[in-house]
Amino acid sequence: MDDERISLSLRVNGATHRIEDAWYFETLLSVLRYRLGLTGTKQACETGSCGACTVLLDGRPINSCVALAADVDGDVTTIEGYSPADGSLTPLQEALIAAGDVQCGYCLPGMVLAGSAFIEEHPNATEDEVREGMCGNLCRCTAYLGIIEGIREASAR
Ligand code: FES
Repeated sequence: MDDERISLSLRVNGATHRIEDAWYFETLLSVLRYRLGLTGTKQACETGSCGACTVLLDGRPINSCVALAADVDGDVTTIEGYSPADGSLTPLQEALIAAGDVQCGYCLPGMVLAGSAFIEEHPNATEDEVREGMCGNLCRCTAYLGIIEGIREASAR
């Protein structure tokens, strides 16, 4: 079964995509990056540990590296589909920029998507709540201070 090919249909960023030759065990991350060219979804640990591959499934964050594409049932939002079509920034993106502390940026697409889901459910979040809510998204090169402040600030808007 490992080498079996399947066809599947995925709804991503508002469009339906038909994939005719997906591997049976192909992950959502693989389909997004290598079949749809949505490389804003980052590939890192591939074990569901770091959150770099976070996308939204019906508004909820999931690790796309451990989700089988064939099992995905719902609307997927990647970082490419998150930003407004007119090129403006969301309040969360503005708050993260204002807070600074972003370095290499590799974790940022996952942080933004997980953070957007977090602030939907946690208006006026405290710093501790942000730290707890974002614990599935790791950053190697900052001390999280700007990221946490940006998400906390956006939750208060
Ligand atoms: Fe998916 Fe790390 S690459 S959680």
